[in-house]
Amino acid sequence: MRTAYRSIALTGASSGLGRALAIEFAGPDVNLLLIGRNSQRLLAVAEECRLKGALVRIRVLDVRDRTALEEALWSFDQDTPIELLVANAGVSGWPTPAGQLEPEGETRRLMDINYLGMLNTIEPVLPRMVRRGRGRVAVISALAGLRAVPRMPGYSASKYAVRGYGVALRGMLAGTGVGVSVVYPGFVAPQEVSDTETEVGPAFERVARVISHHLVAGRSSIAVPFFTAAILAVTGLLPAALSDRIVTWFAKGRLPTPRP
Ligand SMILES: NC(=O)c1ccc[n+]([C@@H]2O[C@H](COP(=O)([O-])OP(=O)(O)OC[C@H]3O[C@@H](n4cnc5c(N)ncnc54)[C@H](OP(=O)(O)O)[C@@H]3O)[C@@H](O)[C@H]2O)c1
Repeated sequence: MRTAYRSIALTGASSGLGRALAIEFAGPDVNLLLIGRNSQRLLAVAEECRLKGALVRIRVLDVRDRTALEEALWSFDQDTPIELLVANAGVSGWPTPAGQLEPEGETRRLMDINYLGMLNTIEPVLPRMVRRGRGRVAVISALAGLRAVPRMPGYSASKYAVRGYGVALRGMLAGTGVGVSVVYPGFVAPQEVSDTETEVGPAFERVARVISHHLVAGRSSIAVPFFTAAILAVTGLLPAALSDRIVTWFAKGRLPTPRP
């Protein structure tokens, strides 16, 4: 695709949505910083992006490591001022089997990666973007961040937190020249990939194409699929018990199987 962005930093680029976005944005004269923990898969994604003409750097790190992330982002930003920063790295939750509670510590683990990891990504770059008066930050929430999914409290909370931060930041940055996009993907089944495999499944490709199109257009709120997001938003206006029943029914077959 033709992109308005020539310098893009992306966390969680080694698989799934991040990998699909990296490949979608790759093109001649596009500088990419790809971040993840699995070096082999990152290398393979980088190679695919280079084949499309992009100039690619990879950094193998954990988004919970604020110091390492800051260093990686600053060094890239120094050479090629970041125009689009996508805080995508995250872990998905699983619905807890009926009648059970979430394992202790699960919510903290999800908040640590999904919310604090996002913060660690944005905070080092934001003051630089604001000083330059240009750039876009994209945070990846989820449809579960629009309407919490029963039996997924930790995951839903982490994605509400991402959404809340992104929406507030958007208002705070109005008039600075820096835009914020909050992205709400629906469930896309994770692919069975080996440590080195790089194939991007068609579902992730489709979602990445829609998201990248809206990011280039500068949209502040991106829900995919839009119809499901609209239904979930409306159920939030109904009485709680009815709303929970509808969301539980709707989520059936669309969410991963509960862990045993
Ligand atoms: N797939 C869905 O249904 C769905 C729906 C709504 C929202 N989302 C959100 O979309 C984003 C991408 O999800 P996905 O489906 O593409 O999942 P995925 O295939 O599991 O990919 C997750 C990516 O995040 C990286 N990551 C995870 N923990 C990390 C950490 N601590 N430090 C650095 N990188 C880390 C992984 O890198 P390594 O493997 O190299 O560690 C991987 O590149 C997540 O924020 C997820 O919550 C996904």
